[in-house]
Amino acid sequence: MEKFKIEGCHKLYGEITISGAKNSALAILPASILAEKSCTIRNLPAIDDVTYLKELLRNLGAKTTDEDIDKVTINPAYINSFAVDFELAKKLRASYYFLGALLGKYKEAEVPFPGGCDIGVRPIDQHIKGLEALGVEIKLEHGIIKAKAKELIGASIYLDVVSVGATINIMLAACKAKGITTIENAAKEPYIVDTANFLNAMGANIKGAGTDVIKIKGVEHLSGCEHSIIPDQIETGTYMILAAVAKGDVLIKNVIPTHLESVSAKMREMGIEVIEYEDSIRIISNTRPKSVNIKTLPYPGFPTDLQQPMSVLLSIAEGTGIITESIYEGRFKHVDELKRMGAKIKVDGRVALIEGIEKLSGAPVCATDLRAGAAMVLAGLAAEGETIISNLNHIDRGYENLEDKLIHVGAKIKRVHETE
Ligand code: EPZ
Repeated sequence: MEKFKIEGCHKLYGEITISGAKNSALAILPASILAEKSCTIRNLPAIDDVTYLKELLRNLGAKTTDEDIDKVTINPAYINSFAVDFELAKKLRASYYFLGALLGKYKEAEVPFPGGCDIGVRPIDQHIKGLEALGVEIKLEHGIIKAKAKELIGASIYLDVVSVGATINIMLAACKAKGITTIENAAKEPYIVDTANFLNAMGANIKGAGTDVIKIKGVEHLSGCEHSIIPDQIETGTYMILAAVAKGDVLIKNVIPTHLESVSAKMREMGIEVIEYEDSIRIISNTRPKSVNIKTLPYPGFPTDLQQPMSVLLSIAEGTGIITESIYEGRFKHVDELKRMGAKIKVDGRVALIEGIEKLSGAPVCATDLRAGAAMVLAGLAAEGETIISNLNHIDRGYENLEDKLIHVGAKIKRVHETE
């Protein structure tokens, strides 16, 4: 097992370049199954979840050719199975996209219940509601979702909960359904738009992605295409908050600033200088930030994936802040680890009351999930003394070359073997 060893209290100066969006890549890779020819996908982040998805595609018979560290060509013409590998699928949540993609193309799919971060119950009832509305028969047997349809017929589907996954899964299954499918109360995250753009590049007919009503007109054929993944909005926000936590002057490049409006607004409220350029954001922070209140909401509200990093910034802010986590009921597992470092946080259900202190103190802590792991890195950078972070497997699932990007701006962080 590896660990991060971090020496805190070093201001950061320089440039960080953002990679392709994890949650776009995790939808677009399975979506390539729908094509009749090869798809070339660029700007893929080099993270474990992408590696797992490429392996899952190969397990189904698809041919994948890595043409560069961030570029892959997928030929789905050789797919010879609809049963997704059980052990691999449980490693990540996004394996559920194989449902919509395999159904959309072959009208059959067997997908294990998805894995992913332990941040709440994370049901998939809205995915099932949407797929059944399209004419899919679904059985749940021994932890496997078995789905089949004689034919897929377009339908009007209202999502009871704004769900990124359900919105994308229904979009995938509806691309070649007969007639028109309308998804109401759809999620609006940038990766929904990115996935719709990828599918339209194949020849799909999807309108309204990015709004809460998406219309999909089924088509007969979907060809191959080329696509470049958008920059990762959550990685961007993580580094914006990190730059404020560690203090200094950091330029974050390869960014779409409009995707971070809620984060920039809250950081400005805290007195942090946030300068937006066309495709980069500069964070200048040399004084103690003022505390604010945060409520996580579906996009364009404050993203739940940045709640844990933001709780670190609030932990060292002046004043008391309240975080309300309205998306996941179990996304405060990092709080106990922050308390080991001296943070003063009280959690009651979905609300955390954070009383800011001057300085955190370094300690051995562990990453309880992907974004909690990022939060621990932020805390280590701000803390007095040394912080050791274990369970790096969580972090490696979603952040490309995190330690290299941080060393590049002056952070004292290194990956060591646990025996060191
Ligand atoms: C996606 O998860 C992201 N993961 C998550 O990012 C992100 O936190 C989440 O969207 C919200 O933005 C990927 O894209 C791989 P949801 P997803 O369906 O699709 C409830 C990260 O750190 N719900 O939008 O699983 C659900 O319990 C990860 O990168 C139902 O009730 O999230 C949650 O409370 C963590 N029934 C809310 O909706 C359903 O059928 C939002 O979930 C589906 C969801």
